[in-house]
Amino acid sequence: MVQRTPDAPPFEELLSQRLSRRTLLEAGVVLTASTLLSAPALADKPAASLRFKPIPGSKADAVILPPGYTYDVLIRWGQGLSSSVPDLDASKLNSGVLFEPNAAERQRQQFGQNCDAIHFFPIKGRPDHGVLCVNNEYTDDSLMFPGHPGLKGLSSGATRAYMKEHPQVVGVAKAAQGVSLIEIRRKRGRWQFVKNSRFNRRITAETPIDIGGPARGSSLLRTKDDPAGVRVLGTMSNCAGGETPWGTYLTAEENIQDYFANLDQLEARNDVDPFIIEAHRRFRMWKAQSLYNWDVADARFDLATTPTEPFRFGWIVEIDPLDPTSTPIKRTALGRFAHEGASPVIAHNGHVAVYMGDDDKFEYVYKFISNARFDAKNRAANRQLLEQGTLHVARFDASGKGHWLPLMFDPKGPLNAAAGFRDQADVLIKARMAAYLLGATPMDRPEDVEANPTTGRIYIACTRNETRSSEPGTVTYGGRQIDSGPNVANPRGPNAFGHIIEIREANDDHTALEFSWEVFLLAGDPSGDRLITDSSQAKPNSAYYAGYANAAELSPIGSPDNIGFDPAGNLWIVTDGAQPNGANDGCWVCPTTGPERGRLQQFMSGPVGCEVCGCQFSPDGETLFLSIQHPGEGGNTANPASHWPDGPGTQPRASVIAVTKEGGGLIGS
Ligand code: FEO
Ligand code: CA
Ligand code: CA
Repeated sequence: MVQRTPDAPPFEELLSQRLSRRTLLEAGVVLTASTLLSAPALADKPAASLRFKPIPGSKADAVILPPGYTYDVLIRWGQGLSSSVPDLDASKLNSGVLFEPNAAERQRQQFGQNCDAIHFFPIKGRPDHGVLCVNNEYTDDSLMFPGHPGLKGLSSGATRAYMKEHPQVVGVAKAAQGVSLIEIRRKRGRWQFVKNSRFNRRITAETPIDIGGPARGSSLLRTKDDPAGVRVLGTMSNCAGGETPWGTYLTAEENIQDYFANLDQLEARNDVDPFIIEAHRRFRMWKAQSLYNWDVADARFDLATTPTEPFRFGWIVEIDPLDPTSTPIKRTALGRFAHEGASPVIAHNGHVAVYMGDDDKFEYVYKFISNARFDAKNRAANRQLLEQGTLHVARFDASGKGHWLPLMFDPKGPLNAAAGFRDQADVLIKARMAAYLLGATPMDRPEDVEANPTTGRIYIACTRNETRSSEPGTVTYGGRQIDSGPNVANPRGPNAFGHIIEIREANDDHTALEFSWEVFLLAGDPSGDRLITDSSQAKPNSAYYAGYANAAELSPIGSPDNIGFDPAGNLWIVTDGAQPNGANDGCWVCPTTGPERGRLQQFMSGPVGCEVCGCQFSPDGETLFLSIQHPGEGGNTANPASHWPDGPGTQPRASVIAVTKEGGGLIGS
């Protein structure tokens, strides 16, 4: 979902932004693309050619694919996961079906709203049968509840008044987000959701979740309901994710600040640790009303009542998809920020590196390195790998090198008590504050950070940053002053369409603390004289496609968000927001090696109002799973702006689709 910001002007920003692997084996452990990265780097061999007819950008209310491709809607928001719960009757949304007394209980057993990350976990190693873990990031309340004013009613107070009148919205919204786990299988070329599977499961904003890692039990994680600071009710704002080489799912808690209200009341008190207030400002908690107003029904989301509750969110959560009775665990060693996703890779020496982005303007890119090593024969030990390790943050230097800076508590270093850090738990809970003190490079909203399974190179999608200024200067953002001007890794101010950075770790070692980097993509419109072949010449309206020079063969793109790789190592990109040609969001692909490196072409266009997320391939590369999130955004139940996926006269429903080639075969080839 797009960024909202309480301390930049929220309403103009909201409106301008909103309207607008592999061979898998299963033998106690699962070997994934991450494992394959231990193989020697193959960076300069061309990937298999992409052979499809690229599509032009579209404003149609439809999923559009190249000739020869088709898709199935795998599951829609509100479908029951078992026969004991009915499917949502979307035709009754505008008559208030979600106000019925059992609506929240039904939603707890139905597929969640606004699907985002998708990861596929094979059952018995099969490419055509597995558990799909899908994030449900947030609820678009205007598309669910009649008369809900949504974002447009924030400044007038109409949204808050509506929520006070209809507090039952909160229970449904809590149940509609989190994670949905579903069994799926492919039969005669078509993918089907398996209703009543024992693997089908919902994890919501109220599911009990353990706290693991160094921050477990920290005084900052304790509340009246959980005086030991060891167990949280729920996960929320689940954006992108990741899969571990030992077959678990990582879900990333992103924009958690939008649920917490009344920072101004906390600021007015003199009995609160000032570093708590600073940490909440740094996370851009809302001063009075929050975006979602959950505090009208649950005091956990009122900062004046429960000042430490926000510290219990903003983590990476590990889930075992093949054990439906397991308790998810918040892995605090990976730090707390607006996590977009988490991409684990096994390094040559067996330690696990996890690459992560913090999706906010002027925030940072992180890498966790585990203390212990992966053991292909010991899944139980691997389940502890994310418990202990070192979190690092990236600094990009003008030399083309970069450094991973460790976030370590040190009484003699910058991360000490005087700076607000009593111990390592404090450093992890307030990772943004720590990274700032270490001089990390402020980026243009780092979203997905992913490793190419064939080369080991790392790609960072920076979605855009309209607040980046053209000249050096300062802006107060996230409670601290920051240089708002361009820097070497974020060369355009303003950055309207985003960019992608490519990293190569020193010696191709994922535990290295030094790397080299270059700009891979400056998104935009490559037509006219805007295409450049030297990224150091970038202007705000330039487009750069890894040096590819033939503009006629390139598709315009804006707002790269999630990225993924097919088994051949081609880079797939899905988008969230502004497109240079005003078209809908969609999916693009380009090779990262060989003579066609950077030849980016559009593969898919989504329906009106949606962002496209997911970008996950089946292990055989013959299916591309995509999330169609918030189709019809900007409309409401009385006047839907989209009728996808069910056609004229219906309400829009966020859904997961499975894209295949007619007659079978590798996607894109
Ligand atoms: Fe939820 Fe950063 O996209
Ligand atoms: Ca996004
Ligand atoms: Ca995202």
